[in-house]
Amino acid sequence: MHHFDVRDGALHAEGASLETIAAEVGTPVYVYSAATLRRHYGLLRDACDAHRDALGDALIAFAVKANSNLSVLATLARLGCGADTVSEGEIRRALAAGVPAERIIFSGVGKTDAELAFAIQAGVRQINLESGAELDRLIAVAASLQARPEVAVRVNPDVGAGGHAKITTGGKGDKFGVPVQEAMDLYARASASPHVRPVGLACHIGSQITTLEPLRAAFQVLRDMTERLRGQGLEVTRLDLGGGLGVPYFGDAATPAPAEYVAMVAGVLDGLKVEAAFEPGRLLAANAGVLVSRVIQVTERTDGRRFLVLDAAMNDLMRPALYDAFHALEPVRARAGEAAPHDIVGPVCETGDTFARDRDLPPFQAGDLAVFMSAGAYGAVMASEYNTRPLVPEVLVDGDRWAVVRPRPSYDAILAREPLADWL
Ligand code: LLP
Repeated sequence: MHHFDVRDGALHAEGASLETIAAEVGTPVYVYSAATLRRHYGLLRDACDAHRDALGDALIAFAVKANSNLSVLATLARLGCGADTVSEGEIRRALAAGVPAERIIFSGVGKTDAELAFAIQAGVRQINLESGAELDRLIAVAASLQARPEVAVRVNPDVGAGGHAKITTGGKGDKFGVPVQEAMDLYARASASPHVRPVGLACHIGSQITTLEPLRAAFQVLRDMTERLRGQGLEVTRLDLGGGLGVPYFGDAATPAPAEYVAMVAGVLDGLKVEAAFEPGRLLAANAGVLVSRVIQVTERTDGRRFLVLDAAMNDLMRPALYDAFHALEPVRARAGEAAPHDIVGPVCETGDTFARDRDLPPFQAGDLAVFMSAGAYGAVMASEYNTRPLVPEVLVDGDRWAVVRPRPSYDAILAREPLADWL
């Protein structure tokens, strides 16, 4: 569900015309809908609140990596949403957007000593440990700061899942988390240290997961481990269930509703008396954003191929090039006529800059606006300035209001970032 609809013949984001935004800000541009963010958070919040007996006062910690724009984070923070972060930069963003430190989780396979120290000093809720080597470093850092941070051990439950091999994280060979027996030992070792306080277990098995089964299997592993650890006299009060729930990129593809997902979790954790945390990224943000681009030209080749050449490129939206991801493309103002197969491409000088091949599209002409849907997660955050294309700007819409929440840098600003070596 989202709030991008056709009004008076043209696609709008809530009450704001995408034609107006494109005219004033230029293209390509990401446009986010605050109402959609609120709706998605609200669905998950309501589902959690309906299962307080099994989930406690569950924390929803938005995975900042999915969309780290400060205004997006602030929109969610105002609702009480926490943040799942993986770098000092993301912690700083979450704090700057108004997320209280006690709702910030610090995850990631390669946290530096400096980042661990920063997280401890910021007073984050919990640091998710990913290895024994990391526990050793955290103990040393915490000891030097005379602190005792709360930690969870990220388990690799050997249940891989996800929409693409590059976004599967829970399989045995993946670099994330600690295998079950090792995690048990690590938990006991951490419990014996005066410098860290283990509070629970965490897992995140992959992203764009479209069935509940692998998630259920992973959470069952956490439940079993919790019972075994408690059997050893150790305290386990929190379970961090990660993110990963998929969204319907194809429009018609069914994905589990948040309420269904949370009911499944409540079923697995029933009677365990833990406080749950969720780290959704895509679920909250994907359908809350679109990438608006303008058609540079339609190229009809003599070999019969038809190319829709957009002013958006792989540097603005990496997902198709990186994961063969599907993003629906909609006209802002539809033209009458038959659909025909097109290759959708950008201006960047490599074949990977292809958003889709042989996609049936309605007629487009040069100058028309074309919108990639479901681009609010892992869109702008993964953009670059490859080919010296200025970093794509971002706009947040809320009802009839809209604001540029990250402007497009000028060429002068881009060049000024690079001081010439003094011998040149
Ligand atoms: N928690 C942890 C520890 C994670 O590593 C991730 C995502 C999440 C939560 C949020 O997962 P989500 O709910 O969004 O599935 N760039 C890729 C996705 C990478 C996901 C990485 N980890 C894409 O565009 O599909």
